[in-house]
Amino acid sequence: MQGTTFRVNMLKSLLKSSTILFAFLLSAIGVFAQDAANGEKVFKQNCTACHSLTDKELAAPGLGGVAERWAGNEEMLYTWIQNPNKAIESGNPYVTGLMSKYKSKFGTMSAQAVTKDEIDDIMAYIAAYVPPAPKEEVAEVSGTGSKVETGLPSYFWVILAVLFGIVLWLLSGVRKQLGHALSEKEGREHVELGAKASAFNWMSQHKIITSLVGIFVVMFLTVQAWNAAATIGIYEGYMPEQPIAFSHKLHVTGNKIDCQYCHSTAEKSKTPTIPSTNVCMNCHKYVKEGPKHGTTEIDKIYKAIGWDKENYTYSGVTDPVKWIKVHDLPDHVYFNHSQHVKVGKIACQECHGAVEEMEVIRQEKPLTMEWCISCHNKTEVQMAGNGYYDEISKRLRDNEQGEELLREYLEDGKITVKELGGWECSKCHY
Ligand code: HEC
Ligand code: HEC
Ligand code: HEC
Ligand code: HEC
Ligand code: HEC
Ligand code: HEC
Repeated sequence: MQGTTFRVNMLKSLLKSSTILFAFLLSAIGVFAQDAANGEKVFKQNCTACHSLTDKELAAPGLGGVAERWAGNEEMLYTWIQNPNKAIESGNPYVTGLMSKYKSKFGTMSAQAVTKDEIDDIMAYIAAYVPPAPKEEVAEVSGTGSKVETGLPSYFWVILAVLFGIVLWLLSGVRKQLGHALSEKEGREHVELGAKASAFNWMSQHKIITSLVGIFVVMFLTVQAWNAAATIGIYEGYMPEQPIAFSHKLHVTGNKIDCQYCHSTAEKSKTPTIPSTNVCMNCHKYVKEGPKHGTTEIDKIYKAIGWDKENYTYSGVTDPVKWIKVHDLPDHVYFNHSQHVKVGKIACQECHGAVEEMEVIRQEKPLTMEWCISCHNKTEVQMAGNGYYDEISKRLRDNEQGEELLREYLEDGKITVKELGGWECSKCHY
């Protein structure tokens, strides 16, 4: 009898530890998911412009297999990414090799404003990256743009499902033995139930495990659904080929033309204009050749507006340029440029990236709801000397409740957009 009790206790503790193992698995998913997903985000914000995730060279060597190349050199890798010049000065042989291989081709990498944790996340993302099947690459070439893949690689879920199966199988084995042991102990014969009945029986006896499994399944489905929903309509990195090879880099950086010379209504109205060919003609009546494409691209301007460049006359036959829209919010969202540029004093680059460096315009930020509200959450509104806000701050100060609200808002020393209503659904949704 003693032996049986012992066995029963053993099995019970086995059951417990399986439950703990299970809980551990659950939390591991959480941790891992965040790393690679955040790595993807940081990578896309900072590194995509120069690095691919495979061994393909863009404006820098591809980062496929980079972890292996830096194995044993991890501290130096942080230094390299955060401050390449310091890494070069250290005389580290790998870094020296890197410079002799790539400096003449690409120059030196610029220092990246990323933390060590973010670098770890990036490395996790690179390690987990699986190149898409060749078919998808064809789709990209045809200019449809590529959707951002977020979340975990699908094989991760397969591994998880297998692990999960093993745990279940272990548990059911344990349960069988436990049943045998119990009936042995009580001296009655063991009755085998049918598979379904025995499953239900088991579930009713193990409510905690059953509910844990239930929660897990629900979580799994939610994560899947969330990932699917979160990628709908996100075109971060979208960079379609435009009908004329217009380069922001050449015009803004090369020729020092202000953004608002062309996008003249960005300060004044909801939507900035895309300049008409008339605006181009202010200069291109005289600038007939470009440094890269000679006359071919500029001739397209003339064709669009019907300009005869030999005789300096308009023919009257026009064929307006059909620029492809890059940044595009869904119709149910209200976004106002003037509010952000003029009132909020936010630089174009905060939301559009370093346009002045772009040969071809591309979408740098995700333009998701999360992106909007996280900026509203952390950005302080400019209260002083701002007509729009004089009114609000006057109202806040004028009545009793206002005083209280103002004190509450100012608890952290600032008033964020959120505190003034930048998280209210109706502000952004029609
Ligand atoms: C403006 C272009 C540019 C950007 C942006 C950039 N890099 Fe680089 N990176 C380079 C170049 C160029 C090299 C090759 C060494 C050299 O010539 O400086 C390089 C080399 C590297 C290497 C070494 C590659 C190897 O094979 O060992 C790593 C790792 C790296 N970069 C990581 C990053 C990460 C992470 C980011 C984003 C946070 C980033 N880089 C952003 C240009 C860039
Ligand atoms: C010489 C005129 C000119 C100047 C200066 C200029 N742009 Fe543009 N911009 C254009 C034209 C033309 C397009 C449409 C073609 C294209 O997308 O490349 C465009 C497109 C854009 C787009 C993408 C619009 C979309 O479809 O979503 C953004 C964003 C943008 N510009 C921002 C800027 C910023 C920021 C600056 C200043 C740093 C700037 N532009 C300076 C002419 C100009
Ligand atoms: C304020 C003057 C100005 C305006 C406005 C302007 N451009 Fe230009 N653009 C230039 C100059 C200057 C060059 C030649 C730069 C050089 O040779 O370095 C140029 C070059 C070009 C080129 C040739 C690029 C190459 O590498 O061959 C194209 C294409 C072009 N512009 C398109 C446009 C379009 C489209 C517009 C209107 C949306 C426009 N530009 C408006 C000044 C302007
Ligand atoms: C707070 C973020 C933010 C700032 C700051 C901002 N933009 Fe935008 N911009 C957007 C968003 C979001 C869209 C897409 C709007 C839409 O689809 O309705 C957009 C669209 C555009 C477009 C395309 C308009 C069209 O009709 O296709 C242009 C051009 C543009 N921005 C230029 C600028 C310029 C120039 C500045 C600086 C003077 C600027 N933006 C500042 C977020 C911003
Ligand atoms: C880079 C930061 C930033 C981003 C990104 C941003 N906003 Fe804002 N937003 C601001 C600031 C700052 C203000 C306050 C401007 C002002 O002073 O009124 C503001 C104000 C607003 C307001 C007016 C709120 C009110 O209380 O009246 C609306 C609506 C709004 N934003 C919509 C959006 C939408 C939609 C997006 C995303 C497509 C977005 N914003 C992205 C910074 C941002
Ligand atoms: C600061 C602006 C802002 C605020 C505040 C805001 N939203 Fe959104 N919302 C957006 C933007 C931008 C999108 C489009 C996202 C996209 O296309 O990925 C969006 C999309 C959505 C969608 C469609 C789902 C999707 O992913 O496209 C729903 C539903 C939604 N919002 C509900 C709400 C509710 C409910 C609130 C209030 C609690 C709210 N929003 C507040 C900016 C905002």
